[in-house]
Amino acid sequence: MTHDAIAVVDFGGQYAHLIATKIRRLHVLAEIRQPEDPTEAFGRYKGIILSGSPSLSAFGEDSTYNKAIYDLAVPIFGFCFGHQEIAKHYGGTVVHGGREWGPADLQVVGESPIFKGLGRTERVWMSHFDSVTSVGPGFEELGYTTLGESGEPHRYAAIGSNTLRRYGVQFHPEVDDTIHGDEMIANFVLGVCGCTPSWTMERYVEERIEQVRRQVGGQSVFLLASGGVDSTVAARLLGMAIGAERINLLHVDNGLMRKDESRAVIEVFREFGLDRNLHFVDASATFLSALEGIVDPEQKRKIIGNTFIEVFDAEAKRLGIEGHLLGQGTIYPDTIETGGTKRADTIKTHHNRVPVIERMIEQGRVVEPLADLYKVEVRELGEKLGIPHRLVWRHPFPGPGLGVRLLCSTGEAHSEGLAEIEPRVAEVAARYGVAALAMPIKSVGVKADLRSYEHPVLVSGAATWEKRLEMAGSLFREVPGINRCIWNTGPGAPTQVKPLAATVTRQRLDLLREADHLVMEGLRRHGVYDSIWQCPTALVPLEVDGAGREFVIVRPIHSERAMTATPAQLPEALVAELRERILSLPGVSGLALDVTTKPPGTIEWE
Ligand code: XMP
Repeated sequence: MTHDAIAVVDFGGQYAHLIATKIRRLHVLAEIRQPEDPTEAFGRYKGIILSGSPSLSAFGEDSTYNKAIYDLAVPIFGFCFGHQEIAKHYGGTVVHGGREWGPADLQVVGESPIFKGLGRTERVWMSHFDSVTSVGPGFEELGYTTLGESGEPHRYAAIGSNTLRRYGVQFHPEVDDTIHGDEMIANFVLGVCGCTPSWTMERYVEERIEQVRRQVGGQSVFLLASGGVDSTVAARLLGMAIGAERINLLHVDNGLMRKDESRAVIEVFREFGLDRNLHFVDASATFLSALEGIVDPEQKRKIIGNTFIEVFDAEAKRLGIEGHLLGQGTIYPDTIETGGTKRADTIKTHHNRVPVIERMIEQGRVVEPLADLYKVEVRELGEKLGIPHRLVWRHPFPGPGLGVRLLCSTGEAHSEGLAEIEPRVAEVAARYGVAALAMPIKSVGVKADLRSYEHPVLVSGAATWEKRLEMAGSLFREVPGINRCIWNTGPGAPTQVKPLAATVTRQRLDLLREADHLVMEGLRRHGVYDSIWQCPTALVPLEVDGAGREFVIVRPIHSERAMTATPAQLPEALVAELRERILSLPGVSGLALDVTTKPPGTIEWE
């Protein structure tokens, strides 16, 4: 069956994803579309939402998109940047200025289907530099805000035309801080667009099973099973669709797995009766030799992706099943982030979207039963399919595994800009009574949806958790060129930090594996594993003691969809224990906890 669907035009990754998730919770299918998609692509939707954008201004050159969507007889709702674009398109004016940040009170004007059932004053969340100052013919003001920085009312915070079925709001209904944002989205999707809620997980399972049966026909599937939630749910669903006897599972130990991971994975598949055609290959030597001498993180990712395919092909040949289709547990964000769009080259390469696989997809040789689900939906599905809670709620682990978290370096210091940065960092540190050091390396972060490589700052000294977060915020605001703040757990304050030449080696991987194991085991024993979304441990080739030993960084975070993240506080007793255990590992001289939000830092250190 076909479902009513809404197109979410993606002017800035994290917002579009959030909007789509909120719509799917209404049991209506939402799909992300790119601004430059052809008009025909929009024809089948019952409504279009124009997302906000962290980087675009309604004046910017970048604001080119397919404006023919306005000629379609489909309702359109714009948020923030989208709101300004609608105002402009229909003859209103937008000016620089009128900035609002954070909470504001929306004073609803008149009657509008968007605010149906809501109060006359609504708490909303703002984040904008430009503002709508007038509307064109046929449009009216549906709300203005108070409580902005100036205390003055901000006009045209909500606008609309019931005749044209075009609406815009300056705030972000998709974030939870807009208290009744979900209701506003529901009013548009179910009310204005008249969508029938038909997209449920049960339906999804039925349809997917049908689709897999149609695609696979009489063939068999060979699935790469890492043991993470995505590939496990995919294997289970495929098993239901075509029967376990027609599925071959391949678990590859790429040498980049967690401690004892492969053994645990094999046990899980056994538990599900999916082990009759389960193959295991220890390809760690192949992966390590392919990665030899490589330091660039993107290059490492590509090599890992390609090596997976080589190993897979070799195994298929060995088993005499080359003709099988390739099964993958790809989920929606993997597809979107490598979608061949304008933005694709700025986002990391997912191991399941390297060019060889893209070609196989074109030939119809890849089966991906979860390709339109988000992680949270995969977990819901996993629970429905009877996969145990402990497995479904495991922390996400990236496909390229510890290969991402094992930082490599030529040993050359990246000192650009440090002379300017250091005094400013020292100034902030003095205010908080701590010592801080901008480090001569570049770490990956996100700025306005693009990857950025900037300096991390190492802070040493005593401060409450709140003060740590506050100081990190001050650094990001006040010092350009900084994208991370890590807090030293040791008693001393390093005065000099030097990069060490380091590449991917089995010895370094074993060290990281052990540190990661101590962290995971500690989180479980202290009862905080489930309340933390993810907790990467990275081994960073930075010397603080002059003895050639490396630095370990632990990054506990809270997140919902990995698009944004906030640092999570670990119990003091756990930190003390980790300090003792990790610092006693041979080759480690320092341990720091990352207290960076995303943005400006990413979740992973690469
Ligand atoms: P970043 O570092 O971009 O990570 O903030 C966001 C989330 O994505 C995970 N991640 C990956 N997952 N394949 C995956 O399946 C990958 O190549 C990959 N790289 C990053 C990361 O662990 C975090 O949850």
